[in-house]
Amino acid sequence: MSITIIGAGLAGLSAALTLAEQGFASNLVSAQASERAQSVMAEGGINACLNTMDEDDTVENHFEDTMRGGVYLADPNAVQGLCTHAPEIVRKFYALGVPFPTNENGIIQRNFGGQKKKRTAFVKSSTGKMLMTALIDEVRKYEAKGLVTRYPHHRLVSLAIHENKCSGAVIIDTYSRQRTVLSGGVILASGGMSGLFDGLTTGTTQNTAETAALCLEQGVALANLEFIQYHPTTIGISGKRLLISEAARGEGGRLFVRRNGTPWYFMEEKYPELKNLMPRDVVSAEMVTVTAMSDCEKQVYLDMTGIDKTVWKSRLSDLREQCIHYLDIDPVKQPIPVSPGIHYFMGGIWVDEQHRTSAKYLYAAGEGACQYHGANRLGGNSLLGAVYGGQTAARTVISEMNPSLRATDDDVAYTEVSPRFRAAVSAVLGKYLKILREETELREAIRVLQELQPQNDAEERLLRLAEATAKSALFRTESRGAHRRTDYPETDASWQQQTVVILRDNELCITRRKLPERRTS
Ligand code: FUM
Repeated sequence: MSITIIGAGLAGLSAALTLAEQGFASNLVSAQASERAQSVMAEGGINACLNTMDEDDTVENHFEDTMRGGVYLADPNAVQGLCTHAPEIVRKFYALGVPFPTNENGIIQRNFGGQKKKRTAFVKSSTGKMLMTALIDEVRKYEAKGLVTRYPHHRLVSLAIHENKCSGAVIIDTYSRQRTVLSGGVILASGGMSGLFDGLTTGTTQNTAETAALCLEQGVALANLEFIQYHPTTIGISGKRLLISEAARGEGGRLFVRRNGTPWYFMEEKYPELKNLMPRDVVSAEMVTVTAMSDCEKQVYLDMTGIDKTVWKSRLSDLREQCIHYLDIDPVKQPIPVSPGIHYFMGGIWVDEQHRTSAKYLYAAGEGACQYHGANRLGGNSLLGAVYGGQTAARTVISEMNPSLRATDDDVAYTEVSPRFRAAVSAVLGKYLKILREETELREAIRVLQELQPQNDAEERLLRLAEATAKSALFRTESRGAHRRTDYPETDASWQQQTVVILRDNELCITRRKLPERRTS
């Protein structure tokens, strides 16, 4: 029996590799080739306490930074596993040939947002592409041995879930329309929910959010949907946001706004310790605040003109090329205009520490799963979370292997969301689920969403997911991490809980769920 993995990005490949290394077969289902997965677009790096920079870094420091960055809304035991295994993960990639630059102590690490130590291993600002190249190659060896079977250009039609037990998945070939029923446990690794904010994210438009929408419809719990990360430095290009990597600030880039005509390096003045490298939720919110001030201009700039020539050459040459290509500005000579853009979804399919979802034999990993990042993700923890999450999900599947699972095709019709409907949903969410939110606007979002007229099942599902997102934001009456309510500006200790949403009797049911205590051993 094979395990089915939906998604062939970093989390999916990592799960497939872990299964194959232990002799277990998998079906790797993806709408696009791995080479085009969103993981390829990840830029600045991957975090691990390698302690190569003479800063006395520890796994505990990584744990603390991750928990603080996520405003204590992540599962501490899951984060402990993540940080503990990070060094071996990064070293394995190095052994697979990822060209991390090195010094006499080992792999060089750079500063990244929300972290007090240099802990981010990198390959210029193309780290995701390099990790993916290594993993694609490694998985290919097992494809040749027949342990990994690829289903490219396939999409998920439905999960075979009955009485809260998943026995497989039905997929469809997007070219031939042929359906295939795959029996056995399923790992969902199909990425974040960019499809809810079409054109407004740095992510690929291929991450349609259909997996999360399907889960919701099929009674699988989602969590923390209100936590949507706005990356501070993005630029608008042809229908999407282009990421200007946090590596730019990690290597000395500075944000300013013109106040009374003079550059004001507001992050440095307001946050003397981490300055421009405060966590993303803080930086993005500050950008909104300063550009609303009457004596400030409306545009924030990223000033990289002070970065050393050798750093540009060895660490940021691809970022420089990007700026020249898309903005026609050479950042070595001139600051570039930047604004916050949606970059990551901290919420998604609810999973426990072992990556089990609320349905038996169904697992989730990567950005699509709600784990590790709490209310705000630190840069460099997403690649790590995808790899470690994929590994953990695979290990759990192995420990719960059930050869008797048999799926059948329930003849659910396969439908797709029309571009027009997606644009309508995205317009509402983009307008109201901003960096700063408040009740009246969130209620308005829900009202407008409820007026939309879905034309098929896929549109109905997307709409329900959008509504669940807006309702989760309304439900959480506090400010925490990426969820900032102007009507509830304080972080409320009683809200140190997950927001869980599930469909019951066709009604969205939103509740709170306590986080586990940190284990001491
Ligand atoms: O800015 C960046 O390079 C993004 C990295 C990340 O989100 O982990």
